[in-house]
Amino acid sequence: MATIGRKTDTWGSRFGFIMAAVGSSVGLGNFWRFPFTAGENGGGAFIIIYLACVLFLGLVVLMAEYSLGRKSGMSAIEGIHSLARAEGKSSNWGAVGWIGSLAAFFILTFYIVISAWVIEFIPQAMSGSFQTFAEQAAAQTAAAQAADPNAAAVTIADISSQNFVKSISDRLLVGFFLVLFIAINVFIVARGVKGGIERAATILMPAFFILLIGIVGFALIEGDAGAAASFLLSPDFSKVGFGTFLAAVGQAFFSLSVGSCLMITYGAYLSRETNIPRSSAIVASADTMVALIAGFAIFPIVFAFGADPAGGPGLFFISLPIAFGQMGEIGTVVGSAFFILALFAALTSSISLMEVAVSWLEERQGVTRPGAAMGIGFVLFMIGMGYVFSGTFIDFADFITGNIMLPLCALLVSIFAGWVLSRKMLESELGEGNVMNMWRFMVRWVVPPALTFILIFGSLDALQGFGMQLPGFLTVLLGPNG
Ligand code: PFF
Repeated sequence: MATIGRKTDTWGSRFGFIMAAVGSSVGLGNFWRFPFTAGENGGGAFIIIYLACVLFLGLVVLMAEYSLGRKSGMSAIEGIHSLARAEGKSSNWGAVGWIGSLAAFFILTFYIVISAWVIEFIPQAMSGSFQTFAEQAAAQTAAAQAADPNAAAVTIADISSQNFVKSISDRLLVGFFLVLFIAINVFIVARGVKGGIERAATILMPAFFILLIGIVGFALIEGDAGAAASFLLSPDFSKVGFGTFLAAVGQAFFSLSVGSCLMITYGAYLSRETNIPRSSAIVASADTMVALIAGFAIFPIVFAFGADPAGGPGLFFISLPIAFGQMGEIGTVVGSAFFILALFAALTSSISLMEVAVSWLEERQGVTRPGAAMGIGFVLFMIGMGYVFSGTFIDFADFITGNIMLPLCALLVSIFAGWVLSRKMLESELGEGNVMNMWRFMVRWVVPPALTFILIFGSLDALQGFGMQLPGFLTVLLGPNG
């Protein structure tokens, strides 16, 4: 069966595609989101559930997304719509593409703001400002203890939250970095898939891996590797509730870029020679390794300097800079390298998120790729500035998009690929052997029930966590961890 679509651009090489796909997956999800999510959900126990989610749910949906993308050869929205029609099924299935694409767009609206903070931290790291943060913490402790010898030490969390507020108080500066980051994205995406996205990824990803190896080596030698290992590897199941499962699924999908139809979009540019199961396995394992390595780069430093592993989204922007600041000169070098690495990771992901919308707009008559990229860039700027000035919605937007919309879209994608489309159509993408049989079993019988269950009970658990009163029988069912 031939492909249905009409995309003309394609990946230049298999290596280029893998770099772009790994670049999409490896991002702030690994460095900013994974450590604090693991920290808040019990460390080792969360990681075991996370790995299961990657293997049994994420990988299966990833294969489905690539297959739908290559089969349709179109943007996610148009592609799902036309695949449904080709099989004589309701074109309402196009709604799945909408949910995923909107999730990608909303994630991008705050992703760019976090990326702008990352850029802002690079000159701060280079100029030694982190050392000033750390010195302030030490000086405040000394002053407090001179007045009252029993006074508690000024904690890293205390001083760092002051610094963080100060560092974002100059919101226009963040706005400037936001514009810069958006402009780089527009520039890359406007140049096309092969000439823009693939080329950027083949330069940035190898540089990223070299920096990563250096930083993790440093963290393991200089930081408290023992404390990090026992936190990350010894599971404490007493903290596990339904909410943990939702957090793990959300994190797995966010990190793999699954459930946002992004990999459908990337799949549309895939050549017939590329082996989808193999590529999916490479992407999923590279992303998972980087998440774990990021944990081993961040937690030794966090523990060595007494920061709180469950410090929430601020872990990355609050605890780490202070910890680097306490290291003296070497902290300046490693701190700068760390935020540059995070920027490379963020950029290869944000261009992929942008491609979802640009690829769809490009299919409209009269819209050129550069025009689409600039238009999206402008809308992102308007929304992004809203976040910069309000500053409080990111956690909520992150929860709704990451933990609800991505699993929901993934659930619908799995039903669509497993139950609505014919086996024959998927066979033409995934082959006819054991891999296909196993994938089809998982996508029909494991992913939909597991995701339905986790979405329902995880959301109720999360609502309870947000302080909402649930009926008594549900509270009993959800247990004390809810
Ligand atoms: N996977 C990327 C990260 O981990 O940072 C970014 C991302 C892409 C998140 C697509 C979510 C998504 F749907």
